[in-house]
Amino acid sequence: APDENPQVRRVSDWDADRLRDLAAEHETPLYVQDIDRVRENCERLLAAFPDADVRYAVKAHTGRAVLEAVRDAGLDAECASAGEVDRALAAGFDGSRLHYTAVNPPARDLDYVAGVAAAEPDLTVTVGAVDTLDRLAERGYDGRVCVRVNPGVGAGHHEKVTTGGAAKFGIPYDRAADAARDAAERFDVVGIHAHAGSGIDPEQLDSHRELVARMGDLARELADPDGGAAPVDLDYVDVGGGFGVPYEEDAPPLDLPAVAEATREAVAPLPDGTDLAVEPGRYVVADAGVLLTRVNTVKPTPDETVVGVDAGMTDLLRPAMYDAYHPIRNLGGGRDRDGGDAPPVAEREATPVTVAGPICETGDTLGTNRALADPRRGDLLAVGIAGAYGYEMASQYNSRPRPAEVALDDGTATVVRRREALDDLTTVEREAARGRADRT
Ligand code: LLP
Repeated sequence: APDENPQVRRVSDWDADRLRDLAAEHETPLYVQDIDRVRENCERLLAAFPDADVRYAVKAHTGRAVLEAVRDAGLDAECASAGEVDRALAAGFDGSRLHYTAVNPPARDLDYVAGVAAAEPDLTVTVGAVDTLDRLAERGYDGRVCVRVNPGVGAGHHEKVTTGGAAKFGIPYDRAADAARDAAERFDVVGIHAHAGSGIDPEQLDSHRELVARMGDLARELADPDGGAAPVDLDYVDVGGGFGVPYEEDAPPLDLPAVAEATREAVAPLPDGTDLAVEPGRYVVADAGVLLTRVNTVKPTPDETVVGVDAGMTDLLRPAMYDAYHPIRNLGGGRDRDGGDAPPVAEREATPVTVAGPICETGDTLGTNRALADPRRGDLLAVGIAGAYGYEMASQYNSRPRPAEVALDDGTATVVRRREALDDLTTVEREAARGRADRT
């Protein structure tokens, strides 16, 4: 019997006819996010971590439909900014399920969150610097606080997303216990937190385990301090997110139950009343999304064939920013140069190509040296595993309106983010001009 909730959904597992219909109706570039798959990913996480608090790192995909599905599945929300807190509240997370991770927080974000806390006193603020506590206190905040620790070890798919060990994040490990004890005099210290990095693959589990073990040590030291300090009873030890997803078609999926087991073992024994917490983002949404893009140009050159498409680094930044690999599948539908229908993709030969976007930057490629079924103008390409950090990192660079997004829920397609129009590119300028006019 087919696995009803497989560890990964590959780009080849999507219903090609459905994707072609969606592209025809809504045009390209188009993100498609399957909410049913988001639910499956939540289920696997909850099954692997039955006794832990599971929090969704909202930054991976902030769409309302995703947030509501995650909320209904029972995960909490981990938010990196006032904007993310705002979205999570709008999607129905109450304060007890909101965790705001303050990374060098702008004053405006702290003002906003302190205001929210007045109405939702159960929210938690995770702080990575002692002076953030002072800034919270200045705003009248005296609620739940979690202390973010720099565990001194990290992991991740790229150095730019290897967080643990980076000085920017968290209080140095050897000062963290004192910082937590000091914080407990002014706040309700409920947890400690560390995040190794993003996209940890099966080969990097040793450093993840090392991080988790250090966090277990710290929790025990806080519960039962050497030398007479007051104990700090934690509700949880949050060991971050970062569970990797296989982007290459033949890469094995992360064995989540094994990772969960290793995590539990490494953190044990936790003091009585202290739970494990994890906060995955990518794992929840990555394989639930594809980016659809249309081939506009096919250009043979002496070195390679360049396939020009209508999506680029402004729509999906990851290849340009991290050299990230995303699988690309040709769904066909294009025309031959004489204007006739091109043969079905199954009858075409695999051809090595570079898939390049419309932005004036050399780094604007979605894939290099890819074997695609001989692309023709008008073909539709599906860029896979695009549901995490895809739309979220989109920009308007080169004055390119951001793409549309469709959510699939129980088979029904709904436009959840409309395609931007040229007018959207100048809204803030026109509003500023209007503001100047009002003042004169
Ligand atoms: N918790 C914290 C404190 C984080 O900073 C992050 C991600 C997560 C959880 C979730 O990590 P995940 O489970 O999604 O790996 N734009 C990059 C990823 C940056 C991740 C930043 N922090 C990318 O596209 O690969």
